[in-house]
Amino acid sequence: MKFGHFDDVKKEYVISSPKTPYPWINYLGTQAFFSLISNTAGGYSFYKDARLRRITRYRYNNVPIDMGGRYFYINDNGTIWNPGWSPVKTELDEYECRHGMGYTVIRGKKNGLSAEATFFVPQDFDGEVQQLVLTNESSEAKEFALFSFAEWCLWDAQDDSNNFQRNFSTGRVEVKGSVIYHKTEYRDRRNHYAFYSVNDEIDGYDTDRDSFIGLYNGFDKPQAVEAGKANDSFADGWAPIASHYKKISLAPGESKTLVFVLGYVEMPVDQKFEADGKTINKVKAEEMIAKFATPEKFAEGLAELKAYWDKLLGILNVDTPDDKVNRMVNIWNQYQCMVTFNLSRSASYFESGIGRGMGFRDSNQDILGFVHQIPDRAKERVIDIASTQFPDGGCYHQYQPLTKKGNSDIGGDFSDDPLWLILSVSAYIKETGDWSILDEMVPYDNDVSAAKPMLDHLDVSFYHIVNNLGPHGLPLAMRADWNDCINLSCYSDTPGESFQTYTNPKFEAEGGYSKVAESVMVATLFTYAGPNYVEILKHLGKDEEAAKAQAEIDKMKKNIMESAWDGDWFLRAYDANGDKMGSKECEEGQIFIEPQGFAIMSEIGKDQGCDMKTLAAIDERLNTKYGLVLNNPAFTKYYIQYGEISTYPGGYKENAGIFTHNNAWIICAAAYAGQGDQAFKYYSEIAPAFTEETSDIHKTEPYVYGQMIGGKDAGSDIGRTGDNFGQGKNSWLTGTAAWNMVAISQYILGIMADFDGLKIDPSIPSSWDGFKAKRQYRGATYEIDIKNPDHICKGVKSMTLDGVPVEGCVVPAAADGGVHKVEVILG
Ligand code: BGC
Ligand code: NOJ
Repeated sequence: MKFGHFDDVKKEYVISSPKTPYPWINYLGTQAFFSLISNTAGGYSFYKDARLRRITRYRYNNVPIDMGGRYFYINDNGTIWNPGWSPVKTELDEYECRHGMGYTVIRGKKNGLSAEATFFVPQDFDGEVQQLVLTNESSEAKEFALFSFAEWCLWDAQDDSNNFQRNFSTGRVEVKGSVIYHKTEYRDRRNHYAFYSVNDEIDGYDTDRDSFIGLYNGFDKPQAVEAGKANDSFADGWAPIASHYKKISLAPGESKTLVFVLGYVEMPVDQKFEADGKTINKVKAEEMIAKFATPEKFAEGLAELKAYWDKLLGILNVDTPDDKVNRMVNIWNQYQCMVTFNLSRSASYFESGIGRGMGFRDSNQDILGFVHQIPDRAKERVIDIASTQFPDGGCYHQYQPLTKKGNSDIGGDFSDDPLWLILSVSAYIKETGDWSILDEMVPYDNDVSAAKPMLDHLDVSFYHIVNNLGPHGLPLAMRADWNDCINLSCYSDTPGESFQTYTNPKFEAEGGYSKVAESVMVATLFTYAGPNYVEILKHLGKDEEAAKAQAEIDKMKKNIMESAWDGDWFLRAYDANGDKMGSKECEEGQIFIEPQGFAIMSEIGKDQGCDMKTLAAIDERLNTKYGLVLNNPAFTKYYIQYGEISTYPGGYKENAGIFTHNNAWIICAAAYAGQGDQAFKYYSEIAPAFTEETSDIHKTEPYVYGQMIGGKDAGSDIGRTGDNFGQGKNSWLTGTAAWNMVAISQYILGIMADFDGLKIDPSIPSSWDGFKAKRQYRGATYEIDIKNPDHICKGVKSMTLDGVPVEGCVVPAAADGGVHKVEVILG
């Protein structure tokens, strides 16, 4: 069952019912000011950091769900409604929500009155602008009351749950004309304030929540709206909100357009106030308001945003026989990559924006899907991340976006972290050809005096693995590897102890983690990422160092074959007792997804057919119609020695959930191994556009990936499998976005930036006759035409560049600003 449809021409998803199976959201803003907006206008805004600069309030995980947003209320002679249906939930005569590239349009109609609200965050603007068009489509004159609503939260958002006794008594506002200013703590230590304006005269306002809503009412029944009149209340001390009130009369056919700005302003300390020393200096806010003072200016800003997105999405554009692939690659997957790049895992409808900063591994992986869009921003990000690294190659697991400093609460010793830096730096060079990034001076632990060239960071990353091997010559597992929930050292039997940061006294003397537990996943990630480091050294003429690094990779491959090949697939780990994890010998959790893809792509044991055996085992044991489960069989008991993983009921999250992030590694691996049909099967099981038809089962947005889908074992613990199988969770902020972008564009469609040029080596469904693609790369545009006359999956028979045959399958970068034709024949 569907709840809308894709409008590919406008690059929008059009939602036709407000009662989607879950709030279906969009992100506004790509630079510093961000808003989350659901299909019923729920959500919130923040500047850079959703904890320290949260602007409006949101109530997470609440009943009913999705409480708090920017709401317009209409009281039309006693009929009270919102254009987005919620929170009043009066049945509408018409409803539609269009989520587009950085904007959302919500239109509702009731009793002949139509209200269309458009929301976006303009480029280079610290605010959300909103346009409300009210049209009397009836044959009678109409007189009604309009109320806007936003609830302020411009303080440490964490205080909302643990120190609200303070927030209850700090509220301060100012009202000037039609602008409501929020200035809590501004007199004291904050040099920033927020405001909410409308470009017309108003008939009243409210700034005090209790006066507007009423102490015993909800957002669904604000007492001011019910009374049809504002109170002109002042939130002195108490909970501050911003609500404009306006009486509107419309003749039949007449429209009224209002433009609202919800903005954020930072002021130099010496200019914070007017001459009286206490009134806010509003100059900057007034400039922002003036920028969008008319519907014409609003339209210009929106057109500029659309042009920006058209340009970004023009860098890679494909025309395949499958519309769903086209809309994922050309529109939605790239769009989601921008969002994950900006926000890492911090602020979504599943992440509070309070608990997590930017993840070291997460942000590095985000680069892989984003780097072609704005390489300069990718570069800046890679440098920010690397600046938090320790001199020995270890990493802070997270850093704060506002301060860009490593987060010591979480600390380090996640065994996979350093390797992702090698991949992100390589991806940047492959995209741009800009080798100078290796010479950039990058601090260690944010200490500028300890800065070394980026290449040094790659050295220590690589050798951090080599220098931390266990008894089988495999990398130590440490606190966790990519799988946060396999904690072979941090296991505990006491509720409340964090599996990632807890130090088990058993391993205290060894430095905090077991020197026996080893991760096969990190071993295979090392053999996958490591060759990039070797290539870089060779390019720099450092042949001796390259040979030394290559020898380490070869040794690791040998160790894997000797100690981590289980006969039909690769083991997952050795635990702290030296026992195998992810082996046929285990009672549960016999096969895990994580090490397999990287092992196949590293060609480990390929000469003995390990790649095909592993792919067959994956297909048999892990595949389902909704994607590949993480492990099988699911754990049904608590295995203390594994840490967090078996605390999840079987079928969810890391315990045999369908973790879409690492599905992509298998898609890449199957494509790499020439199994284009198998790769595409897995791709289409999870790609959002393909889940649209089953939105009632999948539940989360059909235009973006979620982190997890209930696996085939969901419900097994209580003997009710099937209920939650296929149900998506944790949409939007996940490494799935970047990795599936890599999987479809670089491995299946096979258009991959490489150190020496653009590599074209597709591994497609054999049924395809071919496809076309357009790729801007290092200053030139390539129009690529792939033909598949023999209906194979993989194999480039011949390639021409502007009609001239090319050896191999790499197009050297022309860098001439021109347009070039590439023809590829598979066979
Ligand atoms: C989640 C991660 C989280 C970790 C820590 C995992 O299940 O996937 O998002 O960081 O748990 O508990
Ligand atoms: C989500 C985390 O953000 C990511 O870093 C991790 O790899 C996965 N969960 C798997 O545990």
